[in-house]
Parts: sequence; structure tokens; C-alpha cells
Amino acid sequence: MTAKILSGKEIAEAIKREVAAEVALITERHGVRPLLAVVRVGEDPASAVYVGSKVKTSEELGMLSEHHHLPVEATHEEVLAIVKDLNARPEVDGILVQLPLPAQVDEREILETIDPAKDVDGFHPVNVGKLSQGQKSLVPCTPAGVIEILKRSEIPIAGAHAVVIGRSNIVGKPMAQLLLQENATVTVCHSRTKDLPAVAATGDILVAAIGRAGFVRAAHIKPGACVIDVGINNVSDPAQAAELFGPDEIEKRLNTIAKRGFTLVGDVNPKEAKEKAGAFTPVPGGVGLLTVAMLMKNTVEAAKMRRKL
Ligand code: GUN
Repeated sequence: MTAKILSGKEIAEAIKREVAAEVALITERHGVRPLLAVVRVGEDPASAVYVGSKVKTSEELGMLSEHHHLPVEATHEEVLAIVKDLNARPEVDGILVQLPLPAQVDEREILETIDPAKDVDGFHPVNVGKLSQGQKSLVPCTPAGVIEILKRSEIPIAGAHAVVIGRSNIVGKPMAQLLLQENATVTVCHSRTKDLPAVAATGDILVAAIGRAGFVRAAHIKPGACVIDVGINNVSDPAQAAELFGPDEIEKRLNTIAKRGFTLVGDVNPKEAKEKAGAFTPVPGGVGLLTVAMLMKNTVEAAKMRRKL
């Protein structure tokens, strides 16, 4: 079997078009433009890329944006003061503090200080609680993007057995909640799960959010399953790349390693997924593109809810 590739590109573009239309409507009818404020601390190169993309996309869709960049030695109090100031400013609709934060900054206190109504990441305990109770709330962007991929690709969720590998607060746990809300039967696997490959292989939908390149192999995949790869890992070893990519892709990947020093790889072994799954999302070009699109959607949602539009 050759699995269908579920590209995130068209789906992300469609969502961004919908958001842009909504922004235009709000601006025209109510004279307000949604404003997203992003806070970044330090010089983590991946964070710089992500934040750049978030700011640029919000502007492309007609929203306003602010980028607050603090040096790596910024104190906890300095970061906290910025969040409090953004909370207090009525024109700010969305606040996103890019993770990870430097060790001297207490991530938990920062996230708990963000006004839940402006919490476009959906990480505040109030939003986490609402999600678990099935109340309307701001939902973490990456798992929300996975649901969009499944729905817009017409993958049945209700009644399906969905297996999530990983139990992080950012992806695994909210992913399980959202799949449950869509009436899937949900299993969450983690590092202490007994015979994880056998459990994973009972999933009609398999979501990999572990953070280890190529962790999900053929043995984890039920034949014909829909495999969603949330991982973003760097692989710099050509021998490891050769385990992950077949003749259709290996040359391109080795060229990327030679040029940039690494290639982006998900948590799923794509060579084996292609042969055993019914459908799977590529890395790059899959779930990652949805994360930014869903952040834009959350920012407009926050603007509408806060301003009662
Ligand atoms: N770092 C990695 N993923 C995320 C995310 O979804 N939101 C924020 N704020 N930081 C991140």
C-alpha cells in the first residue's frame, strides 16, 4: 500500500483565507483590527523563526501585531511586567509568550498571569479546564490544527480508536481532549506504557507527539491507519536519514544535510508509514503549517469574544 499524503499546505491556506475574510469583516463593520502581541525572551533560533512567522502571518491577514523581544538575561519580573501591561491594554486581543523561557523565568507563573480571554495559546489553567469540560474556550493551536486536518481530509473521527503517543500539556493532553470531544475512543500512550507498539497498532488514528525522530515504525501502525506526525526534530547523521527515507526522498534529504547541517524529521519513520498507513502527514509540510493558521484563528476568536462582536 502507498499511503495518501495529507499536505498541511492547502488546509492552512484555506484557514488563513477564512481568517482574513473575518478580519476584513470585523474591521469594516466595527472599525477594529485584532491585535496579537508576541513575547520572546532570548535568542533560541527555532523560537526566532516561529515568532517571525507568527508576526508576519498576522500582518498578512490584516491583523495588527507587536513583537516584544527581551534579552536572554531578562528577569522574571521584567517578563511578568510585560504580560501585565498587555493584559491591561484593551486594544490587545491575543498574548502569546513563546516557549521555552530561560531558566530564571517561572514559566508557570507567566502562563497563569495571562488574561484567559487573551490566551491564544490556550495554556492557561482556566482554558485547560474549560476544554476538559467541553466548554467553549481558546484551544491549543497544534492539536486544534490536527482536528482540522482530520476533518478537512474527511477522516472519520467519531467511533474511531484514536491513539495519542505523548502526554505533554502543549500537544498530547489537549489532543486527547479534542479527539474525545469529537467522539473518538481515545488511548494515551507514554514512556511507561507496556508494549507501546502493540497498543499504538490498534489505532485507526495515530497521533505521534513524542519528540524523537522516526520513533513510530511499521510495528506501531495498524494497516490503513491515519498517522498524524506532530514531531519536529533535526537529523544531521546521513546514516540515520537513510533509515528514514526511501529512494524517492533520500537524495534531497542528504543534500539538505550537506547544505544546512540538518534536515527536519517528524516522530514517524516516513518510509515505513508510507508502506503501511492509509494516510499520513509529512514533515515538513504537515501539522506545523496548521499551528500558525490556528493561532490566527484563535486571535480572531479572542477579538470577537472579548469585544462581544
Ligand atoms: N513553543 C513550541 N510550541 C509552542 C507553542 O505552541 N506556543 C508557544 N507559546 N511556544 C511554543
